[in-house]
Amino acid sequence: MKELPLGKKPGIFPPYLFRELDLRREEEVRKGRDVISLAIGDPDIPTPGPITEFAAKAVKKASNHRYPYGRGSAGFRSAVAAWHKERHGIKLDPQSEILALIGSKEGLAHLPFALIDRGDSVIIPDPGYPPYNTGVILSEGRTERLPLLEKNGFLPDFGKLSRKTLSRAKMLFLNYPNNPTGASAHLDFYKEAVRFCRKNSLWLAQDAAYSEVYFGKPCPSVLEVPGAKDVAVEFYSLSKTYCMTGWRLGWLAGNARAVQALTRLKDNMDSGQFNAVQETGIFCLRNHALLSGPIRGAFRARMEFFTAALAAAGWDVFVPEATFFVWARPPKGGKPRTFSAGAAKVQGKSLEAVYRMLSESSVLATPGSGFGPSGEGYLRFSLCAPDARIKEAARRIGKIAW
Ligand SMILES: Cc1ncc(COP(=O)(O)O)c(C=O)c1O
Repeated sequence: MKELPLGKKPGIFPPYLFRELDLRREEEVRKGRDVISLAIGDPDIPTPGPITEFAAKAVKKASNHRYPYGRGSAGFRSAVAAWHKERHGIKLDPQSEILALIGSKEGLAHLPFALIDRGDSVIIPDPGYPPYNTGVILSEGRTERLPLLEKNGFLPDFGKLSRKTLSRAKMLFLNYPNNPTGASAHLDFYKEAVRFCRKNSLWLAQDAAYSEVYFGKPCPSVLEVPGAKDVAVEFYSLSKTYCMTGWRLGWLAGNARAVQALTRLKDNMDSGQFNAVQETGIFCLRNHALLSGPIRGAFRARMEFFTAALAAAGWDVFVPEATFFVWARPPKGGKPRTFSAGAAKVQGKSLEAVYRMLSESSVLATPGSGFGPSGEGYLRFSLCAPDARIKEAARRIGKIAW
């Protein structure tokens, strides 16, 4: 039989970068190499015992076995509102301003469906987390990249956006604390961002997935800015805060109309997250300080060690105030060569350095260029491996003669 035709949409996307890198890693492992992967932002630390014990009981409750409410249980949304009140001093209506998500990634990718129409532009950070682009492409919108440059502390310069871009744009994604650069935003920046979005009639979608992995002062929320709720929504996730990436729970908070629009869309596409997971989410939020503190401490110790080791090996290192990512440039030297990562077509110095490190030290990092053109020249290390492996990675990297 002749093969049935597929739709065009899957072909629009380049292969997911992390899959390509993982194939490379598997290839090295097959050769018998002891590969240390610092490529993916997926904590190696297990979900804390009190959380798994609570969840085990929640799973056994028959009342949790039926379809959940698409927008999240009333209990979960109230716990989210109480958490924001305590953590940021902001008031959110659990009925209209909070939506549970099956992990924040799906919400980030679905939001453009709710807020833009075909041909509208969406401004996304460059470098940035790839799924911002996904929803825009599927919504038949266009993406405009907003460079995050080292000279600006990896914060965007809104003044660089042209009138033409702004006239077509409907929405702006921000992400602080930032993946991949590790940069943080302070309240003054959020004030500027809200002012800018209000002035230019843009929806502001701020991704706060790493909000609780901070090493100094707690990170603010964009929703703390007076008037933010007129234009802004913010994404939160339990994934990194409590080492729960596999559990898939997050939420969207902010502007009621935007929250309701995404709720309506999701009501027609999915049936929400397992009630036992939501109940566990309530437990996490109510015991936030106790559960998230030790995780933060573990990442802080890794960060202090690894940034110092890379700097001692001659790398240019951006020391982050939050996240478990180290954004760095390898020592100068050697002739740049060009590599191609299969169909991903990531080329340039970042990828050269990643492959060189993999072949000479069996340590895998992510090429900055994989997050957008402005990431070229940098590598991202994710400190999601046991302490001893991170130490061994640093030792091996230090031996490479760049
Ligand atoms: C910047 C950023 N936002 C959102 C997510 C998605 O997190 P989750 O879907 O697990 O909530 C990630 C995951 O790596 C991320 O790096």
